[in-house]
Amino acid sequence: MSYNNILSTTTEGVATITINRPSKLNALNRETINELHKALKKADEDRAAKVIIVTGSGEKAFVAGADISEFADFSVSEGGKLAAEGQAKLFDFIANLDTPVIAAVNGFALGGGLELAMAAHFRIASDNAKMGLPEVSLGVIPGYGGTQRLPQLVGKGRAMELIMTAGMIDANQALQYGLVNHVVAQENLLEFTGVIAGKIMRNSPMAIAAAIRAINAGFEDGENGFDAEVMEFGKCFGTADFQEGTQAFLNKRKPVFTGK
Ligand code: COA
Repeated sequence: MSYNNILSTTTEGVATITINRPSKLNALNRETINELHKALKKADEDRAAKVIIVTGSGEKAFVAGADISEFADFSVSEGGKLAAEGQAKLFDFIANLDTPVIAAVNGFALGGGLELAMAAHFRIASDNAKMGLPEVSLGVIPGYGGTQRLPQLVGKGRAMELIMTAGMIDANQALQYGLVNHVVAQENLLEFTGVIAGKIMRNSPMAIAAAIRAINAGFEDGENGFDAEVMEFGKCFGTADFQEGTQAFLNKRKPVFTGK
């Protein structure tokens, strides 16, 4: 599949999706959101892709936000539709994928860019990365899940301050906040992310997908995460991956998982 605004490659079990509009600091226009949806869906369905890495092209930006030029003259209903469609197609879509998604944040992650990184299952940042939700400086609020996922990740008070001030934090502050899991030199970002992906790939894809669902359930309104865990735990016992994992352990060999 060919794309105008993203690059997508799969090597050695890792699908790397790179947002590639460097002249606009990889800002998310409608076409880019559609392409990301397609590429993520394809990677999720691809048995060869065990982990997905999302990153930005160039050294300056991961994603500098939703493309402001596209919504500057929107009406109330168009604004609501923009947020609802974007959340369904990209942000909630990523968060609920069965395949683990790591955001490799290689520079500015602002507005929709930080929301994209926060929708991923976890984040690794380069040392030059800067993150923030500056929407209130434009007279709008984060609309791609930012008002929900930022407090979940960093706590309510810090999220309130970051959103109200429209400020930016650097990679080390993000690490201290727990917004990113690791900070590495920019030139090592993809290699380091690949090492973490390698550790994930040794494990059962079916169990990882079940863990993602159980963890996410705890953050869903009206769902009980503990009940979801019990259900997902039980379902694991019916999988080939569980047979393989336990037999490999008992026979003192490495498991070969076929799940996904
Ligand atoms: N939407 C549309 N275009 C954007 C964009 C966005 N979110 N962010 C950057 N761009 C474009 C700029 O308009 C500029 O395009 P041009 O060269 O055709 O004029 C190009 O990307 C480079 O950005 P520029 O602002 O010149 O770079 P800078 O180094 O001076 O500043 C930022 C970098 C990230 C601080 C600045 O681009 C910025 O504040 N972007 C908007 C961030 C934002 O508010 N995001 C939330 C959106 S809801």
